[in-house]
Amino acid sequence: MLFQLNNPEFFHILPPYQKVFSYLCTQIFIISYNIMYRTHTCGELRIANVGQTVTLAGWVQRTRKMGGMTFVDVRDRYGITQIVFEEAANADLCEQANKLGREWVVQVTGRVNERSNKNPNMPTGDIEIIATELTVLNAALTPPFTIEDQSDGGDDLRMKYRYLDLRRTPVRKNLELRHKMTMEVRRYLDSLGFLEIETPMLIGSTPEGARDFVVPSRMNPGQFYALPQSPQTLKQLLMVSGMDRYFQIVKCFRDEDLRADRQPEFTQIDCEMSFVQQEDILQTFEGMAKHLFRELRGIDIQGAFPRMTWADAMKYYGSDKPDTRFEMKFVELMDVFQGKADFAVFNDAKYIGGICATGQAVYTRKQIDQLTDFVKRPQIGAKGLVYARVQEDGSVKSSVDKFYGEDVLNELKAKMNAQPGDLILILCGDDAMKTRKQLCELRLEMGARMGLRDKNKFSLLWVIDFPMFEWSEEEGRLMATHHPFTHPKDEDIPLLDTDPAAVRADAYDMVCNGVEVGGGSIRIHDPELQDKMFRILGFTEERAQEQFGFLMNAFKYGAPPHGGLAYGLDRWVSLFAGLDSIRDCIAFPKNNSGRDVMLDAPARLEQAQLDELYLSLVPVESEK
Ligand code: AMO
Repeated sequence: MLFQLNNPEFFHILPPYQKVFSYLCTQIFIISYNIMYRTHTCGELRIANVGQTVTLAGWVQRTRKMGGMTFVDVRDRYGITQIVFEEAANADLCEQANKLGREWVVQVTGRVNERSNKNPNMPTGDIEIIATELTVLNAALTPPFTIEDQSDGGDDLRMKYRYLDLRRTPVRKNLELRHKMTMEVRRYLDSLGFLEIETPMLIGSTPEGARDFVVPSRMNPGQFYALPQSPQTLKQLLMVSGMDRYFQIVKCFRDEDLRADRQPEFTQIDCEMSFVQQEDILQTFEGMAKHLFRELRGIDIQGAFPRMTWADAMKYYGSDKPDTRFEMKFVELMDVFQGKADFAVFNDAKYIGGICATGQAVYTRKQIDQLTDFVKRPQIGAKGLVYARVQEDGSVKSSVDKFYGEDVLNELKAKMNAQPGDLILILCGDDAMKTRKQLCELRLEMGARMGLRDKNKFSLLWVIDFPMFEWSEEEGRLMATHHPFTHPKDEDIPLLDTDPAAVRADAYDMVCNGVEVGGGSIRIHDPELQDKMFRILGFTEERAQEQFGFLMNAFKYGAPPHGGLAYGLDRWVSLFAGLDSIRDCIAFPKNNSGRDVMLDAPARLEQAQLDELYLSLVPVESEK
């Protein structure tokens, strides 16, 4: 308001008593003005401010000397303003400005002037400040990379100096989006009566299936806390406590191999509700997704999200998080090829499947070879790639022409619903699930090559009816697909005794553009069913009691039916911001080896600290 009062246009319309009041306010302002760092931010001034005397503070983005003038761009979180130093008006001041270096912290006072050479690309581009005072608040070393939207710094360097990287507008914008998202999440959940409740970080092992990060306890020698992989058990206890609707924006810790969408510490929007069925949860959190899209991206998503069973997701996309921005669904081709020719590769396969890449028959031999190399990469592991082009005259030319006649190739074309100009790509293998996953990678690669994975297009769905258990080769036993507290589908409960591998769970994931953005389940609240689940999962009674006794005991005191879900906040922000990695929306992320290169953590402990914790180390392999 004080700035408005300073404005003569505003002043003359005030009634007399307010003129006196505003005059006094202005004087008080002018007295205090000298002790204020700034009157405006660097992103704030417009043509309406012309004529005002202002003070800005910020970092020197760049300086340019042109004739008798020096131009200095000063930047803060809110924007950039051009400051002009005129040699003719004040040679000393101009000389001072010429000595400024990049990223110096300065305070500048001057008069707002309309620019003759306006810059329409800058919000403050209509004005400049003709400087009358300059104070260097802090000099700075030359930064190790340019603090520009497109920096010349490599990843490692920018991570080491992350506090400088965060000065760059695109990075800062990601944090601003993250902030807005957490505010909207709180607004939405609060409006539905959810309580935000914190749960402890120093706890025991949680059941999400990754390795724990552990913390030794000095006061309990030889014993360790585990950091939560999620607050799963605690939120279930809060339901036993009658909290009814809980949420928390919470750090979770998982010691697992890192990928673009995984960090060892990440943030969940963790939620739990009592007296609900799966439908209530899907509706509530679909509502939240729609709310976020509307408020943060201005996108109104109409209608219910599609729901796909896990079995269909695997059958048509080879993934439990299908990217449904584009079709290119798998077509199973066993009956087209098997036994129709003397081609052992197909005859011996347990699965043959294809995708149809519309309009891609123009692919050259070289491009097909590249695709073949792609699917043969060790991370994907296919043995080879069969292709078929549908020619303009409708005939089919394929890499297996010497084995199959026209009739089989025409059957292939019909089954794939392929049109002239289309390219059919086929994989086969002796393990159906593995081959589907390979075909999934090929589908995603083709989607990317064909420009079908547009970051500004969003395709959301629920994947439901996950299998309750999955077989672990490593452990040689059934493991919980979600976690051991997940409720089986009512109609599948009898199968727990006869065919546990066939049991489906009341579990659901929300998927957006091929990313699992959230997941949850209805929980078991019956201690007997929970005991049975532990037995199937190979827990002895003692181990189940040791690890989860607190929860089982709590359930004996009246547990309401309950269920919940956790969204991955980092994944949501990076989807909305169009990022390739969640690292870019985390203020201080870890690198791919789980290191914080800025803090140089993890690090060794002093011997005294080890002693205090009753820890002794064995030499690591490289030191032996
Ligand atoms: P889940 O393990 O599926 O479920 O995790 C929920 C969501 O958290 C995100 N997420 C991650 N994000 C970044 N880095 C990681 N390492 C990482 N791991 C998971 C994903 C995922 O969908 N307690 C259950 C939820 C429940 O049942 O209510 C749980 O943690 O977006």
